[in-house]
Amino acid sequence: MTHQAIAVMVSGRGTNLAAILEAASKGNCPVDVRVVISNKVDAPALRIARDAGVETVLFINPKDYKDRDAYDKACADVIEKAQCQWIVLAGYMRILSSFFVNHFLNRIINIHPALLPAFTGADGVGDALAYGVKVAGCTVHLVNEEVDGGAILAQAVVPVLDDDNRDSLHQRIQAEEYKLYPQTLSRMVQCGFSMHARRIVWGKA
Ligand code: GAR
Repeated sequence: MTHQAIAVMVSGRGTNLAAILEAASKGNCPVDVRVVISNKVDAPALRIARDAGVETVLFINPKDYKDRDAYDKACADVIEKAQCQWIVLAGYMRILSSFFVNHFLNRIINIHPALLPAFTGADGVGDALAYGVKVAGCTVHLVNEEVDGGAILAQAVVPVLDDDNRDSLHQRIQAEEYKLYPQTLSRMVQCGFSMHARRIVWGKA
């Protein structure tokens, strides 16, 4: 089976990264996690990556760069040197520059803990709960210049229960994320996709 190299960008716990690494190591997801970049020095995701033996694991400090473009150029250099095909955002809580988005156009994927286009932004779970929706979920999408605005690759739905709080709902959503993200990456590598305006159609064009 063809494998493709990916770079994963993280800021936090890294449980999605762990799910991708596990799926890859079990032969269920044909990706090679070659690079992990964090913008946070204390992100537990860094340890997960090192423990899994990822080749290049880096904390790149935003404070060392004069602006967002300069920071993103440094990240892009690492990703290009490692010849990664896809850039996978897994809890990466930093807005990407236009430079980065256009440089890797249609090669950056994100997972968001809400059913887009509803509840974009930093607290998708809390916003959905506060709104009173009865179903919630997660979305895997391509990244464009609009925050959480790119074409949708896959979605999964969970119920919202009467006694949910932010954490319980997020947990239920994350259980779906751990399946959906590796599955979607597999599909991208194995089937490819074409884009028709905003619609993704699976299969080689
Ligand atoms: C995930 O639930 C992901 O959907 C969310 O952050 C969490 C990261 O968890 N991403 C966003 O909210 C992006 N807007 P993890 O670090 O344990 O994978």
